[in-house]
This record gives sequence, C-alpha cells and structure tokens, in this order.
Amino acid sequence: MAVTILAIESSCDDTSAAVIRDGYVLSNLIAGQDVHKSYGGVVPELASRAHQANIVPVTDQAIRKAGIKISDINAIAFTRGPGLLGSLLVGTSFAKGFALSRNIPLIEINHLQAHVLAHFIIDREKKNATPGFPFLCLLVSGGHTRILLLRSHLEMETLGNTIDDAAGEAFDKCGKLMGFQYPAGPAIDELAASGNKKAFSFSKPVVGGLDFSFSGLKTNFLYFLRDRIRDDPDFIMKNKADLCASLQYTIVTILTDKLVKASVETGIREIGISGGVSANSSLRDAVKSMALKRDWNLFIPALSLTTDNAAMIGIAGYYKYLRGEFTGQDITPLARY
Ligand code: KG4
Ligand code: ZN
Repeated sequence: MAVTILAIESSCDDTSAAVIRDGYVLSNLIAGQDVHKSYGGVVPELASRAHQANIVPVTDQAIRKAGIKISDINAIAFTRGPGLLGSLLVGTSFAKGFALSRNIPLIEINHLQAHVLAHFIIDREKKNATPGFPFLCLLVSGGHTRILLLRSHLEMETLGNTIDDAAGEAFDKCGKLMGFQYPAGPAIDELAASGNKKAFSFSKPVVGGLDFSFSGLKTNFLYFLRDRIRDDPDFIMKNKADLCASLQYTIVTILTDKLVKASVETGIREIGISGGVSANSSLRDAVKSMALKRDWNLFIPALSLTTDNAAMIGIAGYYKYLRGEFTGQDITPLARY
C-alpha cells in the first residue's frame, strides 16, 4: 500500500505544506511573508501571526494540488524545531489537531535533519540518484551553518557548527549595511555576478576543527564600509557589485575550506550542500569544481528544495513512518532542538 504523508513546515518565516507519496513529492506549497522585508530580519511575533493566517489555506491547496483525498493521508509530519517558538507552535498545534481529528499518527521532525534529507527526494521525471552512506552534508541557512555526517537516513552527527552567526546571517547582515532588504542573500548573489571578487579582501576567521565563525567578518565589513564612506559618501553605490562579489567570495571560501577539511579527515567523498545559502550560485560552482578535482559524488539540491519547504519535512516523515517512529499528543515544539 502507498504511504502518503502530509507535511507542515513553520519554523521561521515560510508557511509550507506538502504531500509526499512513497518518497515522491505530489505537492509542495510555500507562502512567504513579505511583512519582514523592511525590518532587515524576521520579526518573530509577525511571523507567528502570518503562519496562523496562512496554514489552513496552504494545507488545503497542497492537498488539492496533490490530487488526493484527506482519507488517503497515512500520517502528518511537522517541524518540531529548531526555530522560532511562536512559529513552531502554529505548525505543531495544527499537526496535532489534524492527527487527532483524522486518527492518524503524528511524526515530529528536526528541521536540520530535514534540510539534509531533501537530497533523498526522488523527482518523478528525473529519477535522480540519492546519496549513499556515510554522507557528508554542509548545511547553510539563515539560522544554521553545520557540517553533518549521516550514517543512515535517521542517524545524524554534527561534525562542525558555527560558534556565532550563520552563513545566511552574514549575507543578510552585511547586505543590510549595503542597503539591501531582507533576505539579502539572493540580491548579493545576483549583483556579485557583475563584480570583481578580488576587488576587496575581508577577514577570514581562525576557528579550530570543523567549526565556523562569521561575526568577525560582519564587523570587518562594517568598519571597512565606515572608513571608506568617510572618504567618499557614495562608496557603496559606486562599488556595490565589487563589494557583493568580494563578500560572497569570502563567505564561500570559508565554507568550502571546511567542507574539504571534513572530507579529507573523514575520508568521505559522498558530499552534499543544503539549506537556503546552498542556492548561492558561487557556492554551487565552487563545490562542483571541487567535486571534479577531488572525485566527490556531489549532491546539489534543486533550487526549490534549498530554502525552507515542507517537502523536506515530508521525506523525513516518510523514513520515520517506515520505522514506526511516531509521537504522542503531549509533544511540544523546541526552539533549540
Ligand atoms: O534555509 P532558509 O530558507 O531558512 C533558514 O532555515 O534559515 O535560508 C534562508 C537564508 C537567508 O539568510 C538568505 O539570505 C539565504 O538563505 N539565501 C541565500 C541565497 N538564497 C537564499 N544566500 C546567498 N545566496 C543565495 N542565492
Ligand atoms: Zn531552514
């Protein structure tokens, strides 16, 4: 019998619902929240209110688009954390209510694990290959920067983590200093294409092992701009593309240096990138050339699966369903999972 999972993601500022059947995506709908744009970051209270408004219509559309009946759904999977507590509460409460009313199992999902498991979604047309184990994945998003080792779909270990900001925050915070709206990553990526990545050089952190740090870069960028603007008030406007290219190059180099180190230390060449920042064209190009040079079996997610989405929650839910890993109605969300 086919296994049909309804999945809900509401950890940050995207409300998403998806239907997954036997590892294939039948629908994956995302409602973004423009309300945060002018604030330079996500405002938690506004995010949870927008989730409340969006969750029922988005889920309704996901079920319709999948062409299934509600009675076809075998289980509901939801993001338990990590994330913003108010946002997580909306998805968790909705999933609990849905499971109770349909008398189906409830499956709690770790958002980070889901980002990595996005690589195991099979595209119906492309019939893409999925990673073998052990699998090493660089997870880079607005909230996280980690190197994760997967021994199986559900066994995950953190080999390296950021000690301060995430890579996406480095893009967003430095972008804000240049006058970009939140999230700045995509705009920096676009403008960097016409800039010179060697125009300016910014500091790279010295952090031990496989850990990361981005707060020093942000401060370095801030002081650099402050000094240059003192001499020329139009400095940012005149040099925006070069600033974007140089900043992006620095961030990508910090990330890829550690990914190479992790691969060398573990001997693993089954490698992937995931999370919102894995949409970055320069990061994608950099890991592709590394894969050629180092004989990696590389996995880069489709752009639609890089940022937060419920399809990744659904695939994680599918593997938990197969293992019978269900949770009770007493479950509560975890801001820090
Ligand atoms: O995974 P995600 O949607 O949400 C979190 O779990 O945080 O990631 C959002 C982050 C934001 O910081 C955004 O600026 C960044 O991903 N991002 C990018 C690009 N697209 C999204 N950063 C650099 N280049 C991009 N093309
Ligand atoms: Zn995420």
